[in-house]
Amino acid sequence: MANVDDDFVSNHSDNETFAYVVSARLSRRSVVGGGLAATIVAGAGVGSLLNAVPAQARDKPGKGEHLLGFEGIPVSSTDAVVVPEGYTARVLIAWGDPVSDGPEFKPDASNTAFEQEWQWGMHNDGVVYFPIHGSARGLLVQNNEYTDDVLLFPDGIANWDEEKTQKSQAAHGVSIIEITKQRGGQWRVVRPSPYARRITAYTPIRIGGPAAGDPRLVTSADPTGRLALGTINNCAMGFTPWGTYLACEENFNGYFRRFGTPTALETRYGINASGAGYLWHTTDLRFSTDAEPNEPNRFGWVVEIDPFDPNSTPVKRTALGRLKHEGAWVQEARDGRVVVYTGDDQANEYIYRYVSRLPWRRARRLGINPLNDGTLYVGKFNADGTGVWLPLTPSNPALTAWGLNDILINTRGAADAVGATKMDRPEWIDTFPDSLTAMATLTNNSSRTLVDAANPRAPNTYGHIIRWRYRFDFSEPTFVWDIFALGGDPANSGHGSTIIGDKFGSPDGLYVAPSGRLWIQTDVSGSTVNAGAYSGFGNNQMLCADPDTREIRRFLVGPNICEVTGVFVTPDERTMFVGIQHPGEAPSGANDPADPKRHSSWPDGPSGGRPRSATIVITKDDGGPIGS
Ligand code: FEO
Ligand code: CA
Ligand code: CA
Repeated sequence: MANVDDDFVSNHSDNETFAYVVSARLSRRSVVGGGLAATIVAGAGVGSLLNAVPAQARDKPGKGEHLLGFEGIPVSSTDAVVVPEGYTARVLIAWGDPVSDGPEFKPDASNTAFEQEWQWGMHNDGVVYFPIHGSARGLLVQNNEYTDDVLLFPDGIANWDEEKTQKSQAAHGVSIIEITKQRGGQWRVVRPSPYARRITAYTPIRIGGPAAGDPRLVTSADPTGRLALGTINNCAMGFTPWGTYLACEENFNGYFRRFGTPTALETRYGINASGAGYLWHTTDLRFSTDAEPNEPNRFGWVVEIDPFDPNSTPVKRTALGRLKHEGAWVQEARDGRVVVYTGDDQANEYIYRYVSRLPWRRARRLGINPLNDGTLYVGKFNADGTGVWLPLTPSNPALTAWGLNDILINTRGAADAVGATKMDRPEWIDTFPDSLTAMATLTNNSSRTLVDAANPRAPNTYGHIIRWRYRFDFSEPTFVWDIFALGGDPANSGHGSTIIGDKFGSPDGLYVAPSGRLWIQTDVSGSTVNAGAYSGFGNNQMLCADPDTREIRRFLVGPNICEVTGVFVTPDERTMFVGIQHPGEAPSGANDPADPKRHSSWPDGPSGGRPRSATIVITKDDGGPIGS
């Protein structure tokens, strides 16, 4: 077992809220059928997790290998994925495709909620490849961040009912598939697979760590405050050295409605009457904050999932704080403690760091999950290029009136109190282990009025990438920082861009491959793709950077009005998985259920029923590393 759930307190209360969940899980087992146990025995992953840790950065390309060995491509605005000469991109799986041998996708979106529970979720985002047999067979675990409920049903959001809420919830969460490389080099989904799994907005999830059981996490369905249902708005991700996946809850607030006067805590986290347009609250009282005031407190966490045990219960790790977690990136300190970076993606929010109390191997030997026992910090970036991690603990003089759970549940408020630096929407973070460096994307900030050294443009239309470095170890309390690149068009002096190479804006996905190649993905919003300040930038894209020379070269452009988000490679770096999210999203307002292909018909083309988020596989035609 990968998870050590020292904090598990079982809740066997048989309340009605869980009834349909249990029935769904039972029927799910019957779908998988009797072949399950036999296949698990044959599977190599179970029980061998230390061999199954994903590819980790070494900062080193192969001998004689150039980091930027490909010909950069121009911007484009075609309804297609474009990659450089010598590379091939193929669709691996798209929204609605079965994760195992379950129901096929119906192009008119008429699959039921129960069918959706067995299909790839909508709008995929952060992704990790967990090897089973090195770079030839493994598990692909990917978040399904959100849904476009107009495209999710044949008649859009009309006639909203409980079935529609349930299908929308079933299209959220996390999808796990087993994939294998075939002779000839193409990848396919293994169907059926004992590992295939969907985690949705109603899967039972334990609440772990210090805030588990806090009265503010108790609801009418869960008097223990230790067993939540579901995970939502899972944006980026992370993985641990012990072989688990971290799904992060970002804009969870938008699913809740609060029609009465919001509390200060609700206001600080954006719980209000308008929400983000979802209608779940109309049939599921969990999302009516007037009825269930504590339910929002059970979201905004990092969720740990063991992808190798399909029967495991995921756990929300409260020691990492409650905020709009973009992702959670784990880096080992020299002594084996884990350092976890996580950003809060909203304008003028913060970058956080968690350091486990014990080296992770020792903690696990003692039955302690390393993500349950540690210290949370928030970043302060000083004008002189130094920085400090401010501890978010009751022993901080600025937090003497706060208990630990006050800090973990209202992490934003605690970070306000200690004087952290307000950043331009922190998105992905990744690390270069050898050079003791971390980088973060700050996607943009239209509401910035006052600049500071770390966020030097107001408004910040094009975003930037910041980096920080330690002297001897990732666990040090202080660092030095600089700006890696200010986004925009370097050929347009009005943009103030410092890019060396190809133009881009709104950086979001950021990934350090084993070779040290730095991959950057963009999320220009649908309303401004290739328009206004982004005229001439084309569709959203992925670029590759050399972290030493800072040269940046465009590698991929996505289809119309998509976001390119989610990137991971196999350990040999010869296969890359890239997420294409929300092709064909309406640039303003909502999509039209009568004309779902108005803005894009990717990936199915004219014969398909509607655009679909999908994950693509990129290979180099000569079999070499991606980017070489
Ligand atoms: Fe879901 Fe911050 O992007
Ligand atoms: Ca993102
Ligand atoms: Ca984004």
